[in-house]
Amino acid sequence: MKVALVTGSGRGIGRGIAIQLAADGYAVVINSVTANPAETESGAYEVKRTIESAGGRADVFRADVAARADRDALIGFVAERFGRLDLLVNNAGVAPRERRDILDAEEESFDRLVAINLKGPYFLTQRAARRMIQWKQEGVVERPRIAFVTSISAYASSTSRGEYCVSKAGLSMAARLFADRLAEHGIPVIEVQPGIVETRMTSGVKEKYDKLIGEGLLPMRRWGTPEDVARVISAFARGDLDYCPGAVIEVAGGFGIRRL
Ligand SMILES: NC(=O)c1ccc[n+]([C@@H]2O[C@H](COP(=O)([O-])OP(=O)(O)OC[C@H]3O[C@@H](n4cnc5c(N)ncnc54)[C@H](OP(=O)(O)O)[C@@H]3O)[C@@H](O)[C@H]2O)c1
Repeated sequence: MKVALVTGSGRGIGRGIAIQLAADGYAVVINSVTANPAETESGAYEVKRTIESAGGRADVFRADVAARADRDALIGFVAERFGRLDLLVNNAGVAPRERRDILDAEEESFDRLVAINLKGPYFLTQRAARRMIQWKQEGVVERPRIAFVTSISAYASSTSRGEYCVSKAGLSMAARLFADRLAEHGIPVIEVQPGIVETRMTSGVKEKYDKLIGEGLLPMRRWGTPEDVARVISAFARGDLDYCPGAVIEVAGGFGIRRL
């Protein structure tokens, strides 16, 4: 059975990706930073329960992607439990706790976002990629793949959360770098840029975005859903994008279309 690791899959977009991949036949490793086996109504163990009740296979591993020891433990868990990794989805990410103008924002928030959104997935991918190369050479896996979930904020300026934009722009380059480096090993790497997706991350700015979307910010005039993103990851996982290393796929209802 193929194995997928989806970081930050206790809720939101990661949850949608994990459920889709399980339906596609992957054994899924669900990761979140607060995963708690005593909590099964929400969070990582709810996702595990949902997947298992649909006949799928899921394991949970709590880890903070920003912490080196946790990253090592996460990949170590995958190696010990399954001895293979067919798909890594770098999805875990955070928004600033408080939106603040770039002229006032604190370094602490910058450091936090860069650690979780950029440094974490960068070095988790390094770790995972080394294993994937080895497992591929040994014939354990046929074609491992890696996806990065960045954001339209990798290119669109939001001056009230500059640290988020910078972390996602950096992550976009990380995706390109790994796509370049791993192509010779037959490991496709792509970047997926969600737009405005209804999750807990955007719950605090729902009214603002309802208004903007209503006024036509997005040509498609609706919020994105975790399933919109999951469908793209599913196509990638199936192999449909294997000749597209470095591809950047925007999942944003047309946000990036320049209009007159
Ligand atoms: N929502 C949007 O509009 C939108 C748009 C573009 C891009 N994105 C990106 O899509 C990804 C998912 O966003 P979302 O909206 O689904 O967010 P969300 O609802 O806030 O869920 C984030 C998930 O990431 C986990 N997480 C947070 N910090 C972590 C860490 N240090 N280590 C491991 N896991 C961690 C959380 O764990 P717990 O459950 O334990 O808290 C949670 O499961 C993020 O990278 C985000 O930047 C979102």
